[in-house]
Amino acid sequence: MQKTDYSKIACTYNNRYKENYLSNIEKLLKQLVFDNGYKIILETGCGTGKWIKSFDDLNLKVFGLDYSLDMLKMFDRGDSKAQMINADACSIPVKDNSIDLIFCVNAIHHFPDKKKFISECKRTLKQNGMITAFGVDPYCDKEWYVYDYFENVYQNDLKRFVPVDSIKEFLNSKDFRETDVSIAEKVFNERIGGEVFNDPFLKKNHSSQLANLSNEDYEKGMQKIKTQIKKDPKTIFKTSVVFYMITGKK
Ligand SMILES: C[S@@+](CC[C@H](N)C(=O)[O-])C[C@H]1O[C@@H](n2cnc3c(N)ncnc32)[C@H](O)[C@@H]1O
Repeated sequence: MQKTDYSKIACTYNNRYKENYLSNIEKLLKQLVFDNGYKIILETGCGTGKWIKSFDDLNLKVFGLDYSLDMLKMFDRGDSKAQMINADACSIPVKDNSIDLIFCVNAIHHFPDKKKFISECKRTLKQNGMITAFGVDPYCDKEWYVYDYFENVYQNDLKRFVPVDSIKEFLNSKDFRETDVSIAEKVFNERIGGEVFNDPFLKKNHSSQLANLSNEDYEKGMQKIKTQIKKDPKTIFKTSVVFYMITGKK
């Protein structure tokens, strides 16, 4: 599996959140914490700590784990008491039965061994603790103009991602209970003609999809978009992405 170099992405990563992006995921996470009275939570693949920050106002013990030191360095700590851990999600350096909630957002597809990650969650979660993973599924949804204009990006995503139903199966195979897949959030927008160049996701080092391309392939895709706009300045560039939530209880 192609490994994304997050040192190239880290300094511009937070731009994606300028559009109040994925606010429902924050709501769902907080709801899980409230409903279950969870006190100790861990985000694996926490990156720059966007989700970690959303727990600042609650009286919780929060840990963020990421293998990219450059992403962790972008964590804007402020008054946060969260502890950041530089480690691999497939080998979580915490004691058995010690965490209430392990979650990840847009990260599980990067973990090299998803089954090992899920075993680690089983080991480190307390009884009745929960794992929840949020992410997209290119096997179900592929209405994203980036897939149409940049060669092999869709095919690469099929290699990098595991269908959400398979993740649920992995949870079942590790005896997680009450496993479920639901829709967490939908992102839809249409940019017309040259407006597409305002899309932060079109920048080379903004998403793992484009960061993983060679400069040459990236330029080819950009050229395709420019040619299309010349041909039809009213071309619609559509993004219709569904974020799923997969859960299971120990
Ligand atoms: C798309 S970012 C998501 C960051 C954050 N969860 C968010 O939603 O803003 C994916 C993150 O997963 C991290 N990551 C990838 N593989 C990892 C691994 N094996 N262990 C821990 N973190 C990993 C990357 O360094 C990156 O920060």
